[in-house]
Amino acid sequence: MRAVDIIQDKRDGKILSSEKISFFLDGYLKGEIPDYQMSAFLMAVYFKGMNKEELKIFTETMVNSGEVIKFEGINKFLIDKHSTGGVGDKTTIALGGLFASFDIGTAKLSGRGLGHTGGTIDKFESIKGFSFPETKEELIRMTNITGTGVMPASDKIVPLDKKLYALRDVTATVQSIPLIASSIMSKKLAIYTDGLILDVKVGSGAFMKNIEEARGLAKTMLDIGNSFGRKVAAVLTNMDEPLGLAVGNSNEVIEAIETLKGRGPEDFTELVETLTAMALMIKGDVKDLETGKLKVKEVIESGKAIKHLKDFIEYAGGDPNLTENYSLLPMAKKEFLVRTENSGWVSGIEAEKVGKAGMVLGAGRATKKDIIDHSVGVVLNKKTGDEVEVGEVIAKIQYNDDKNLNSSIKFIKEAFKISKEKVLPKKVIFEIHTINI
Ligand code: URA
Repeated sequence: MRAVDIIQDKRDGKILSSEKISFFLDGYLKGEIPDYQMSAFLMAVYFKGMNKEELKIFTETMVNSGEVIKFEGINKFLIDKHSTGGVGDKTTIALGGLFASFDIGTAKLSGRGLGHTGGTIDKFESIKGFSFPETKEELIRMTNITGTGVMPASDKIVPLDKKLYALRDVTATVQSIPLIASSIMSKKLAIYTDGLILDVKVGSGAFMKNIEEARGLAKTMLDIGNSFGRKVAAVLTNMDEPLGLAVGNSNEVIEAIETLKGRGPEDFTELVETLTAMALMIKGDVKDLETGKLKVKEVIESGKAIKHLKDFIEYAGGDPNLTENYSLLPMAKKEFLVRTENSGWVSGIEAEKVGKAGMVLGAGRATKKDIIDHSVGVVLNKKTGDEVEVGEVIAKIQYNDDKNLNSSIKFIKEAFKISKEKVLPKKVIFEIHTINI
């Protein structure tokens, strides 16, 4: 078999056999196939795509390029929720407590933030003394005791994805649905869970800019999950504005806590209720979403969900009292109120710009080496559909260093679109797709 023939086949739109796909990917991982041939192959896939069988083999080869984790010894039904990445996405923090309230375990590997989007690991690290499990055994123990197990993503899982992603980044082949779907799904399938929920973000702040693209990605990921016999559900959600109000680290932890106390922003509350209801459907506890959502409201009202989050924080070495006393979290020294210069209705808040407004203050990383300041960030005061008067506060900037304040203010002002026409609030959930449930 020769790499050049495989590239040619894909270029000409032929279906590749499993042997050819494995030969190509394994050869690349071992360094026997060079970057320039893989680049040409990726570009051919970008234009010609892959069918379901090709994608299954492609993803399987990715999964088997590294360590595959089975959580033997976890006595819970395990669900992993994956988000394709957005601004203000503190969902994992809130879901841990909610899932645990229904005896659903979370055992997941999460990432750190880069660019305008934040990472779950950084958000938890806002909590003084918090430490993550370092081994699979520690993760299992944490999940069995608290119901929630989160640890930083490891290089040992799907090393091929890391190599391929770096190449895609510099060869303009990131934006390919089969490549994105196999990249995400390989990392999810390498860790065994009973069910998987994919939160596919749609909008200006997301990879998928419109609903058709997002639907295509969701369906492709569901097909891959199904071909591996997994129960998978996908939800398409709005990322045309940040999720909730808080964007940063400490402030996002606070918003997740407030949500588990029943006082969260409407869109974020709707999302976590829906995701938990979907988890209950996957587990087989409820037949429909509405019944599931009612159950979720009950565990929030009863205080069960926040109690689970407290237990999790305590187990990880943090002070559980912070759920009542937010000054135990890092707090920025200064605040600046951003006011609008126009009146009308907020017609959109570009998520990417709000993410950058936080990043320049230190809430995120422009490069991998940057150090996060957990105390800083942005809290929105208005969301799409809200009416505003000239001079009204649209956002609060929480900062320590004056150096980048002006740049943060500029991003916020650019992010807010104000219309003279009345605008309705944005829905957070667009569509739900399931397979095998
Ligand atoms: N996220 C991933 O993990 N992979 C992609 O290709 C795109 C987004």
